[in-house]
Amino acid sequence: MSLFDVYPLYDVTPIKAQDVWVYDSKPTKYLDLYGGHAVISIGHSHPKYVENLTKQLGDIGFYSNAVHNPLQEALGERLPVQSGCPDYQLFMCSSGAEANENALKVASFVTGRKKVVAFNNSFHGRTSAAVAATDNPKIVAPINAQQEVEFLPLGDLDALAGVLAKGDVCAVIVEFIQGVGGLDISTKEFYEGIDKLCKQTGTMLIADEVQAGFGRTGRFFAFQEYDVQPELISMAKGMGNGFPVGGILIHPSIDAEFGMLGTTFGGNHLACVAALTVLEVLEEENLLEHALRVSDHFNARALDFPQIKGVKGRGLMLGIEFDFDTSALRKQLIYDQHIFTGSAKNKNLIRILPPLTVQNVHIDQFFDALKIELEKI
Ligand SMILES: Cc1ncc(COP(=O)(O)O)c(C=O)c1O
Repeated sequence: MSLFDVYPLYDVTPIKAQDVWVYDSKPTKYLDLYGGHAVISIGHSHPKYVENLTKQLGDIGFYSNAVHNPLQEALGERLPVQSGCPDYQLFMCSSGAEANENALKVASFVTGRKKVVAFNNSFHGRTSAAVAATDNPKIVAPINAQQEVEFLPLGDLDALAGVLAKGDVCAVIVEFIQGVGGLDISTKEFYEGIDKLCKQTGTMLIADEVQAGFGRTGRFFAFQEYDVQPELISMAKGMGNGFPVGGILIHPSIDAEFGMLGTTFGGNHLACVAALTVLEVLEEENLLEHALRVSDHFNARALDFPQIKGVKGRGLMLGIEFDFDTSALRKQLIYDQHIFTGSAKNKNLIRILPPLTVQNVHIDQFFDALKIELEKI
């Protein structure tokens, strides 16, 4: 084995994919309710995506950020408007961790402070400051542990008020729906309270929309469920439908300085075309509204199952909770039913993160398969 062996692998080798389907060489057809970890937004190999990226590759695939890139400018115009954050400024990078890392840097540059507040069960990525703000000591190396991060219970506004009152926190970073942690959502009062406390204490609010953003929850960003205005919004996953692209939206009150942030690959021509195509298809196919309709169907079907203790999350960022470890059940779903689902830190949860093009008929297929597999347990 010459690969650095960090991933426990399922014995599946996808070689082709179309919309919600993934095929191996046999060919076995798998229903993808995992989206490669919430990445596939407009469906695998969407015809428009293939056409636009292919054409762009034939023109110019990459040049550095030292020259004008009209595609990046077009995305900088379109994304803030379409996402409902007009006037925000766009900085592009290539992954979710990098997006959060850059958001934390901006917050620290602007406030001159270095302490961060994050919440229990959070996941923000694996780079230096992002991993330090991630509530999982197993993935925090000693070199990352030097960052000053305080973890607070999700929902504890008094604890947050106490910490922010000291005036030394540059950013509060929060997932408005926790992804890897297990789909927990706090209250409207809590989220709106964070925003107020941040504004009162000159602290930047970072909305980590890496997983929830780009329409997955039925809104463009999950934080838009509430009356909050983050200074920084990090994005990745669904933004590129599989092309590695991430970015941050930065509040218009924050001024850029040359050299403050930078990247070689971020915002390259192919990345911009991927993100622009995702925006186009989200709008043309009304995928945000569609996500909510399919989500309603999912929730209704889940009611037929006494074994399901609850459905967590919103839109097509869902978790179904059982009162047992679901690892074996997920394996049965893959190998016996040919359906991909996701896991979470909460082992009793199965995560559902399908392409936003998923249809009710696919949800029915999942529940029919689940019924068969639950009967075997
Ligand atoms: C909420 C959230 N933030 C950040 C990340 C890190 O993204 P990436 O793996 O692209 O670095 C993830 C990845 O799962 C995530 O779910």
